Amino acid sequence: MEKFIIHGGRELSGKVKISGAKNSALALMPATLLNSGINKILNTPEVNDIFTMKKLLEQLGVVSEFSNNEIVLDTSNVNNQVAPYELVKKMRASIYVLGPLLSKYGYAKVSMPGGCAWGPRPINLHIEAMKKLGAEIELEEGYIIAKSKKLTGTKIHFDVPSVGATGNTLMAASLAKGTTLITNAAIEPEITQLCEYLESMGAKIHGIGTNNLEIEGVDELNSADIVNISDRIEAGTLLCTAAITKSNIQIEYPNYDHIEAIATKLEDSGCKILNNNNIVSIFAKDVLLKSVDVTTAVYPGFPTDMQAQWIALMSLAEGTCTVTDTIYLDRFAHVPELCRLGADIELKNNSAVVRGKKFLKGAKVMSTDLRASASLVLAGLAAEGTSEVLRIYHLDRGYQKIEEKLKSLGADIERVQTDEF
Ligand code: EPZ
Repeated sequence: MEKFIIHGGRELSGKVKISGAKNSALALMPATLLNSGINKILNTPEVNDIFTMKKLLEQLGVVSEFSNNEIVLDTSNVNNQVAPYELVKKMRASIYVLGPLLSKYGYAKVSMPGGCAWGPRPINLHIEAMKKLGAEIELEEGYIIAKSKKLTGTKIHFDVPSVGATGNTLMAASLAKGTTLITNAAIEPEITQLCEYLESMGAKIHGIGTNNLEIEGVDELNSADIVNISDRIEAGTLLCTAAITKSNIQIEYPNYDHIEAIATKLEDSGCKILNNNNIVSIFAKDVLLKSVDVTTAVYPGFPTDMQAQWIALMSLAEGTCTVTDTIYLDRFAHVPELCRLGADIELKNNSAVVRGKKFLKGAKVMSTDLRASASLVLAGLAAEGTSEVLRIYHLDRGYQKIEEKLKSLGADIERVQTDEF
């Protein structure tokens, strides 16, 4: 087991390159199951969720090579359509193999994903969409068993613009017979990139980037290469790191339009942000941060994946604010840990009331999930004294070598072995 030891209070400076988007790559990788060939995905982050997806695809017969942020997936000999519990329980995104396997091979047996640190993560929208496309679905011993000779295009409306359900349905519909219209589809950048990737394989999709996606099924798809977008949540996390440590830093990040909501909230709190030719600069040195309310929303709203980091930042702002999560109503496991560092936060249903403090004091804290662990690192970097962040395997799921990036900016953070759990 590993933990971070952080000596807080250091001002940061310099420039770091943001890695490829984890949540985009987690959709692009299973999309290659729709063809039978050699596919290359560049700018793929070397994080544990990607290695888990790689292992799952290899379990299905995919041959893969992954080095220097480039993954090659040979889907010529997929010979197994069962995604086992042992792998799926590690990562909910494993559900993304359901649509492609069902559509390409007519059969998929995928373990139901478990819950996660902040509660149940339903997949009803995924299952209902597959049924509407004509699949026979049985739920047996914790597995979804889906069968279909040939999926048939239809109209599908999502009551909730689910990212995962939109991705699964897009992939399933691309090889269906006839046309599928998805209304109230998710429009996250990861979905737009998935549409572009499917198009490059030969899929016919209209309305890309909108909530209404029309997919004309084709008989087969070809292998294709793609350069993955950069990670908007890592970018937002690094910008918040600069703000909480009152630092001026730069991030090499080419998709500024994906982080407008985050940047605007940071400007509202008193930071200055400049976007110039793939370099985003944040000026937070000597800024007295103001408390700013945030309510998370689907894209292009403020992302739920930045909610924990925002609460950490507001713990050191001037005033009181309310941070509400409308996507995951109980995604607040980081709050008690932030309070161990001296933060003054009160939970009220799916909102956190954050009363800014003059300072936080270092302490030993425990990560509970990916973004919660990021919020604890942010707070530790700003707290006086030494903090220890335990269970950083959560962080390694979604941030590539985060401590090396932070060290290059001048942070005093070390990854050490520990027998503490
Ligand atoms: C994706 O998860 C991301 N993961 C999550 O990021 C992110 O928090 C989430 O989208 C919201 O933006 C990946 O892309 C791999 P949803 P996903 O389906 O697809 C409800 C991270 O930190 N819902 O858009 O699972 C659900 O309960 C991770 O990187 C149903 O009710 O999210 C939630 O309230 C965490 N039924 C809402 O929709 C369903 O069948 C949004 O979920 C599916 C979802």
